[in-house]
Amino acid sequence: MLRIGMIGCGFMGRTHAYAVSNLPFFYKDLPFTARVCGVCASEPSHAKEAARRYGLGEAAENEEELIGSPDIDIIDICTPNVCHYETILRALAAGKHVYCEKPLCVSEEQAFHAAREAKRTGLTAGIVFNNRFLLPVMRAKEIVEEGRLGRILSFRGAYYHSSAADPNRPAGWKQDRTVCGGGVLYDLGSHVLDLIYYLCGPFASVYGVGNIAYPTRIGRDGKPWNTNAEEAFYLTARLACGAVGTVETGKIFQGTNDDLSFEIYGTDGALRFSLMDPNFFEYYDAAAPHAGFTRVECCNRYPAPGGVFPGAKAPAGWLRGHVGSMYAFLDAVYRGAPASPSFADGAHIQAVMEAAYRSAESGRMEEVHALV
Ligand SMILES: NC(=O)c1ccc[n+]([C@@H]2O[C@H](COP(=O)([O-])OP(=O)(O)OC[C@H]3O[C@@H](n4cnc5c(N)ncnc54)[C@H](O)[C@@H]3O)[C@@H](O)[C@H]2O)c1
Repeated sequence: MLRIGMIGCGFMGRTHAYAVSNLPFFYKDLPFTARVCGVCASEPSHAKEAARRYGLGEAAENEEELIGSPDIDIIDICTPNVCHYETILRALAAGKHVYCEKPLCVSEEQAFHAAREAKRTGLTAGIVFNNRFLLPVMRAKEIVEEGRLGRILSFRGAYYHSSAADPNRPAGWKQDRTVCGGGVLYDLGSHVLDLIYYLCGPFASVYGVGNIAYPTRIGRDGKPWNTNAEEAFYLTARLACGAVGTVETGKIFQGTNDDLSFEIYGTDGALRFSLMDPNFFEYYDAAAPHAGFTRVECCNRYPAPGGVFPGAKAPAGWLRGHVGSMYAFLDAVYRGAPASPSFADGAHIQAVMEAAYRSAESGRMEEVHALV
């Protein structure tokens, strides 16, 4: 039995709790069982309510109590970004495995230190890059690893939302640099940067430009508020493999929903995917040019040891990525193995984002620092 203590029980807390409690449906013959046994939030009353509503065990007064509990093996961090670093260090020091939401931290220095601490302790420490576990992304990864794209030359990644398109909607904490640690680059950009990294390899250097479209908004207290973090961000990047491409993100794009997409172009073929069409990706084989792009159906055909629930033909969606991500992490804990994606992966993406912010200030291409 893997016993999880959840810190933060808002949107992601609910999502992770759903993933944990549904694992036996999605995975055949699970060698472990897992339960969220305790929870805390910014207010004890929120934790009590979440514990009651979602069956999350005991509500703790605060994170110190939860992390210190001998009845907890794993700390699952679902709090706003500025909280992650302290909680990670506290949990690792207490000998707990850690599953942390993205972005890992709010600076490269913090993220590198967290990654080093995870390695030093030998505990399983994973970051939630859930989109790696969407079935079309897993199949795309196989195609890249089989060398079917040849040498990767270029890529285009984007993650657009419309949640900040209405200037009269009060700004949430994800738009506030003092809580988010950055702007939309941290919030949505981290996901799409990770997919490019996962499929094409590490970043070497980046050029970045941010944009604030609405300098004044309504704050969380209902009063006028000055926007303090970028609402859109645009990067040009060179990867270690030599490929050059772009990544864009923003929350001010009318008409978009959960518009995460990528295109990858190699010497021998190409791939493209959109999360709004989550059961397919498109593959182009340069050896069969007249076939054009082939739409590859993925649906619910899970890789082993996934069961086939609710059926191979059934469409799968965003939540399935979180279930797969949770499974991969807990399975690593069970086997005493390192997590993948790991804190080192989270630290690389943090370094990319920090280089992008440095570039937006300097107006120059900036090197991405290596984790040391
Ligand atoms: N992977 C994804 O798909 C995805 C999606 C959304 C958010 N996220 C990430 O998940 C994290 C949480 O985001 P969210 O959307 O769930 O936020 P949220 O605002 O919905 O929930 C935050 C929770 O943290 C609690 N909290 C705040 N400060 C706390 C503290 N000091 N101690 C204990 N609890 C505290 C709040 O009470 C609340 O329960 C962020 O890091 C965000 O970037 C990831």
